[in-house]
Amino acid sequence: MSKGFRVEEASVKDFPGIVALLQDTGLPPDGIESHVDNFLIIRSPQAVAGPEVLIGCVGLEVYENYALLRSLAVHPDFQRKGIGKRLVSQIIDTAKDRGINQLYLLTDTAEKFFQSIGFDLIERQDVPPIVKQSIEFTTLCPSATSMTKRI
Ligand SMILES: CC(C)(COP(=O)(O)OP(=O)(O)OC[C@H]1O[C@@H](n2cnc3c(N)ncnc32)[C@H](O)[C@@H]1OP(=O)(O)O)[C@@H](O)C(=O)NCCC(=O)NCCS
Repeated sequence: MSKGFRVEEASVKDFPGIVALLQDTGLPPDGIESHVDNFLIIRSPQAVAGPEVLIGCVGLEVYENYALLRSLAVHPDFQRKGIGKRLVSQIIDTAKDRGINQLYLLTDTAEKFFQSIGFDLIERQDVPPIVKQSIEFTTLCPSATSMTKRI
């Protein structure tokens, strides 16, 4: 069902749309400006000639051969159509192309979703220190669940 939606690499001009989508889905936009080159987006089909509205996004913070997967968001009107799963699948391909072999993430809300697509729970203390430099670990998600996936 998600096949009609085109996944694109984001650019700086997409930054406001990504921030708006993250705010609409209850996720913090803090720190994404440094990583916007590593974001994928899906635009709303109705936005072709009008204001740029995003219905999906996901990003990577790259730390050597590791990456933190962050900011996975699907607009509430478009959830449960396979878009989230598709965005994760495509960002995994992007990560592999960049030489990344292990993904980490933090989540308060979507542990079951990520488990269903192959992420395992991991103790925060077992996340590599370089990944824990991320603002998600230091400030934004103090009590969130850590998860990981070998890719
Ligand atoms: C989590 C989120 C990205 C999922 O996106 P989505 O497009 O609705 O997910 P999909 O349609 O691809 O779902 C894939 C599977 O996971 C299931 N699923 C979706 N959201 C789920 C959730 N929150 N909990 C448990 N299962 C979920 C779907 O039923 C589907 O199962 P199926 O393949 O057996 O039918 C979306 O709910 C969202 O944006 N939530 C708010 C922001 C958020 O919490 N992001 C995660 C931050 S780390």
